[in-house]
Amino acid sequence: MELPSESEKHTATLTTTNSANNLTNTKFKSTHRSPLKQYKRWILILATVIFFILWISPTNFLKWLHLYNRDPKIVIILAANVGGGVLRWKSEQEWAIERLSIQNKREYAVRHGYGLTIKEMPIDKRYSHEYRESWQKVDILKQTMREFPNTEWFWWLDEETLIMEPTYSLEDHIFKRIDTIVNRTLDGFNPLEMNVDSAYVDYTTPLDMLITQDCGGFNLGSMLVRNSEWTKLLLDIWWDPVAYEQKHMLWEHREQDALESLYANEPWIREKIGFLPLRSINSFPPGACNEFSDDPRYFYKDHDFVVNMAGCNFGRDCWGEIQLYQSIYEEKNRRWYSKLFGM
Ligand SMILES: *[C@@H]1O[C@H](CO)[C@@H](O)[C@H](O)[C@H]1NC(C)=O
Repeated sequence: MELPSESEKHTATLTTTNSANNLTNTKFKSTHRSPLKQYKRWILILATVIFFILWISPTNFLKWLHLYNRDPKIVIILAANVGGGVLRWKSEQEWAIERLSIQNKREYAVRHGYGLTIKEMPIDKRYSHEYRESWQKVDILKQTMREFPNTEWFWWLDEETLIMEPTYSLEDHIFKRIDTIVNRTLDGFNPLEMNVDSAYVDYTTPLDMLITQDCGGFNLGSMLVRNSEWTKLLLDIWWDPVAYEQKHMLWEHREQDALESLYANEPWIREKIGFLPLRSINSFPPGACNEFSDDPRYFYKDHDFVVNMAGCNFGRDCWGEIQLYQSIYEEKNRRWYSKLFGM
């Protein structure tokens, strides 16, 4: 009998091993999942998670996390749907302004972990027999303070505003510098020539309200209000129906004039109100206060925090103005990759 050659022996052995392997494989398959299948499951889960995050986009992801920040220390109150309601339909451009403005505040609030609440300001008869148009600001502040009892500061912003420097936090830009940038009296800047002195005013108490003045007096388009007993009292008195009844025809600038009057006559109100430079939170476009066009205190310059198209709906082009500043904003805040790739 002829013995198998070395190579044949080898092949034979190999075959045996292979079939043995196949056997174990088959056995393995019948009792466990194959490793590939197991991986498949994880790959699928991972892909789904990645897809989900990309789909909701990083900003939205942060926003989603932010929903769980139930007690923001700072809440931005944004007026929306201003003038919408019973009198007329809003135009396409007005809707576009609103969308742009909301998006702008939303991105800012998400970045800094602030709350954002959007408040409708339509013109309708909500207050017994009156519209109290734009006075609603006072009522809305009151409601919002009830809604966020643990918030320390509220930042009111009119609809036609844009935050131009989203990296500035209110802490760094305002609150930490409060002693150096805020004036507690009208000494330095007094466009209405109000009485500068008042008896019984304590200028050492902490400030509860930070506003600005423009060429025409108090401007409340962008202001900071602390959540305090003082503020609640102020809002009640400010909203007082008797004063409204007597004066609303005379107070051309409505709730702003009312606050000026309270400031002028009530020392306890005066001592808690501080004046920020207009351009720290409320820069103007050239169209506003245009009779003072050479006064650098009013008008937006590069690196100003916020621009407010104040009064643009009185014969100016709100949409044109906001688009102009939006394009400046986009140019300034383009990401490095879009600069690189022109995206
Ligand atoms: C604060 O006062 C200074 C002068 O005392 C003045 O130059 C400045 O414009 C004032 N600023 C504000 C916001 O009132």
